[in-house]
Amino acid sequence: MTQIDWDNLGFSYIKTPFRYISHWKNGSWDEGRLTEDNQLHISEGSPALHYGQQCFEGLKAYRCKDGSINLFRVQENAKRMNRSASRLMMANVPEEKFVDAVKQVVTANKDYVPPYGSGGTLYLRPLLIGVGDSIGVQPADEYIFTVFCMPVGAYFKGGLKPTNFIISDYDRAAPQGTGAVKVGGNYAASILPGEDAKARSFSDCIYLDPATHTKIEEVGSANFFGITYDDEFITPISPSILPSITKYSLLYLAENRLGLKAIEGDVYLSELDRYKEAGACGTAAVISPIGGIQYGDTFHVFHSETEVGPITKKLYDELTGIQFGDVAAPEGWIM
Ligand code: COI
Repeated sequence: MTQIDWDNLGFSYIKTPFRYISHWKNGSWDEGRLTEDNQLHISEGSPALHYGQQCFEGLKAYRCKDGSINLFRVQENAKRMNRSASRLMMANVPEEKFVDAVKQVVTANKDYVPPYGSGGTLYLRPLLIGVGDSIGVQPADEYIFTVFCMPVGAYFKGGLKPTNFIISDYDRAAPQGTGAVKVGGNYAASILPGEDAKARSFSDCIYLDPATHTKIEEVGSANFFGITYDDEFITPISPSILPSITKYSLLYLAENRLGLKAIEGDVYLSELDRYKEAGACGTAAVISPIGGIQYGDTFHVFHSETEVGPITKKLYDELTGIQFGDVAAPEGWIM
């Protein structure tokens, strides 16, 4: 097994021994299998390559104290992948097939699930691509569904330490476009604004709503949340935001475990003074506190640029406690 420094994992590709692959042709999926080959051999005409007919998911496997392994809300990833697939007219992956593929990959690579207490997790990347000999702008007539995995640590360098973000002049997605589904095109469009932000020493950029540019929508490839001085947990609502499973989990936990008022609503840039804490959330980002936001010449600091806020910390402990099996989970959240 490759030597891994479990305590210093970042978010980068590590080749693990096994991945799952299945092919769709003539209206049905083959059985699917595990393979050690990490290369895909596809037609040069594949619609995934030319027109971005592809979608993906991100989820994690967690090592518990007793050595067992948890998956978190995996059925929600299966459902979301099919919403993305349908938006791009791709073959859907049956939910049982998705879950079975994830379980096979985790089991086959179980030695790569980081130890309990290291802070690391095994990140799974399910991927669905339109392939086959094609060139017209139309749905593919063949698909590949694959799931691979790698051990990861923090997505944003600070982990649970706050970092700073800058409001982008670019839009991530159009109002009635594909922002609400997990398709590669949204992320391709975010590379330039993200790199611009990093070149200016910010962790990433924040996108405003594409229709009016007055409200916060997304934090790089994660969702935004804020805690108001009235103890409300607010996360933006919009047809161009990716509905993160972490965000919906936090809405539930904020209301039912922390006694906050949980709201999906508008977060106006002109009202940032209402918020005592803010953060980014997502599978990869988990909960990453936002220290400050730069927009134009203004730099707005939330709780602190160096210390995580107390409510953000409580949400983090509750969420990760559930994921690692230390805190009782709402029914159906853990497999
Ligand atoms: C995730 O949070 O799992 C994502 O897919 C975001 C990303 C790393 C692109």
